[in-house]
Amino acid sequence: MSVKQLGIGVVGAGSIGIRGALAHLCLPDVQDKVRLAAVCDPVPGRAQAAADKYTVARAYDDLNALLSDDAVDAVILCSPIGLHYEQGLAAVRAGKHVHFNKTMTVTAGEATEIMDEAEARGLKLVASPGQMLRPSNLRLRKMLQDGVLGRVSWAVTGAAFGSYHEKENTRTGSDVLTNVNPSWYWRKPGGGPVYDMSVYGMHTLTGLLGAAKRVSAMSGVAIHEREWNGQMFPCDADDNTLFTLDFGDNVFALVHGTFAGSVSQFGQPSVFGERGAIVGLNLNGERIAYPGSDRDNGNPIRLLPHVVDTIHAEMEEAHVFEDTMQLVRWVREGIPSNATAEHARHVVEIIEAGYRAAQTGQTQTLVTTFDAPKGE
Ligand SMILES: NC(=O)c1ccc[n+]([C@@H]2O[C@H](COP(=O)([O-])OP(=O)(O)OC[C@H]3O[C@@H](n4cnc5c(N)ncnc54)[C@H](O)[C@@H]3O)[C@@H](O)[C@H]2O)c1
Repeated sequence: MSVKQLGIGVVGAGSIGIRGALAHLCLPDVQDKVRLAAVCDPVPGRAQAAADKYTVARAYDDLNALLSDDAVDAVILCSPIGLHYEQGLAAVRAGKHVHFNKTMTVTAGEATEIMDEAEARGLKLVASPGQMLRPSNLRLRKMLQDGVLGRVSWAVTGAAFGSYHEKENTRTGSDVLTNVNPSWYWRKPGGGPVYDMSVYGMHTLTGLLGAAKRVSAMSGVAIHEREWNGQMFPCDADDNTLFTLDFGDNVFALVHGTFAGSVSQFGQPSVFGERGAIVGLNLNGERIAYPGSDRDNGNPIRLLPHVVDTIHAEMEEAHVFEDTMQLVRWVREGIPSNATAEHARHVVEIIEAGYRAAQTGQTQTLVTTFDAPKGE
């Protein structure tokens, strides 16, 4: 097994390319494991500006040039979701390991194609969000399996869009690193609150309850134009969506991805059963205990293995850094991750099939599954 530093290529120097990848991976504490080999972005001057600021060896305007760079062993896709399929496929075909920021792809078939190509080449894939890396969620899963709620009746998760992206500090300035246009978040393919935000809670929900078996849905576009930086942009991605999921044995869940209004904590489903409720990280109103819960200040991200007791715990998007380091560790040390492509593909299938259910009025049967997350 190689122990050299893994050469990282960052694809997209926008909000998460900067805040989730470059700002973390340029720090001294990880230089024995990673080397920032290259960054690419098609916006003129952005990749070079990012390379200068975060000490990246090479800057490119296009992905193919980055993929041709032998110093790049693995890529982190920090580009819009609708590009992940073609870019992920190109990356594995170029022999690179891939970390997909959420959401892995737009369709399950796209994910399968990339997974098959990666497997044929012995390449590793890690797909965010690694919700089941968190000790809190692993403990919740064990508690549910041990019957803490008795028989589970239903669960709810989801998120509301609001105007979060428009206000990120990478979008409110005037230079090439701070004027990043968020309008792709409102367009098909890959836009909308479900692919963008509900995906966190769906990873946790399925991590806790296992793979869903069927989905039905209502969905549509409520807001047809949004403003950023004084300009109006069209919105054609659904922004008001309700999925109902069937986990089998009459266990159901509701997932929302809406333009306003949430009923559960972000990324953290509420689960109900005959003996009460898990709401966020509380069981019947009492905070649950999990390894490290006495020292995480209520934020389990601080306990992630590459984050705990490091400077990364104080930084934005530490969970994205963790997911990247899961890939780095897997490639360098052969330690697999719970942030698997299989789990991400299952969530992608729910979303894809959910939208199809809304369009057709027909409940859709789900076919993908994933291995249970490891650890407790
Ligand atoms: N912004 C967040 O809070 C956040 C958090 C976690 C994960 N993510 C995920 O990170 C990814 C990127 O989101 P973002 O918010 O950083 O988007 P963004 O719009 O801020 O940045 C995307 C960047 O990709 C660049 N780009 C466009 N086409 C490209 C191409 N063909 N090749 C390379 N780069 C290209 C754009 O120029 C832009 O700089 C998405 O998958 C998103 O879901 C975002």
